[in-house]
Amino acid sequence: MKNIIFIAPPAAGKGTVSDFLVSNYNYEHISTGDLLREEIKSGSSLGKEIDNIISKGGLVSDEFMIKLMEEKLAKLDKNKAFILDGFPRTIKQAEKLDEMLITNKVTNNIVIYLDISLDDALGRVMGRVICPKCKRSYNLTNEKLKPIKDNICDNCGVELEKRSDDTEETFKVRFDSYLENTRPILDYYKDKGILKWVDATMNIDNMFQIIVNEAKND
Ligand code: AP5
Repeated sequence: MKNIIFIAPPAAGKGTVSDFLVSNYNYEHISTGDLLREEIKSGSSLGKEIDNIISKGGLVSDEFMIKLMEEKLAKLDKNKAFILDGFPRTIKQAEKLDEMLITNKVTNNIVIYLDISLDDALGRVMGRVICPKCKRSYNLTNEKLKPIKDNICDNCGVELEKRSDDTEETFKVRFDSYLENTRPILDYYKDKGILKWVDATMNIDNMFQIIVNEAKND
């Protein structure tokens, strides 16, 4: 399978598709949002600084994110395909990622753009709850994406939580930040000829299948 770099607005489904690919195709999942939330949970002073940025819908600095990703990529198991979920989010991060992939001799990559409107994404985020342990995303407004038992993770049996940045006000800031900082990356990858477009509003099983087909080696 190819390595996948997801570029998408918030709540497009990056995490949900990643969980499916990890369970069924043995992918390594690198979610920068999960890594940052772990740091916040640790209660460190760095975590407090990050929390202050994320809870307002802002972006953590390029310098910090690039260093974090350099460390992650250097430690990857070279025998497994990986998913980048949440990185790159700016042109600078995309340029640095290219350098990191060359340094680490990583080839066979595709970039998948999950396309969704603000209104559809906002609708999803209002119904989202996540597992604090395995990080799985559920949706209380979608029968296929609900937990089996009310508010309990199917995998871990722990109580599900709402994310602190999943309020309507913060979500709109995050979406605007996506339009300003992240959307321009699409042209960057289109020019390189590795960008695939996927409609993120389709039925979840069809979306999984389309992404698997795109990620299969030719
Ligand atoms: P991050 O955690 O990456 O948040 P995000 O990009 O806003 O993405 P989400 O996690 O909200 O959405 P998702 O696409 O994973 O959707 P999900 O699968 O859960 O980052 C958080 C913050 O960290 C950022 O705002 C920023 O501050 C900071 N940060 C992270 N990376 C950074 C970087 N590189 N540089 C700087 N700062 C950075 O799905 C959403 C909901 O929809 C779920 O409830 C799910 O069940 C449901 N759903 C999914 N697919 C479908 C479907 N097909 N049909 C119906 N419902 C669906």
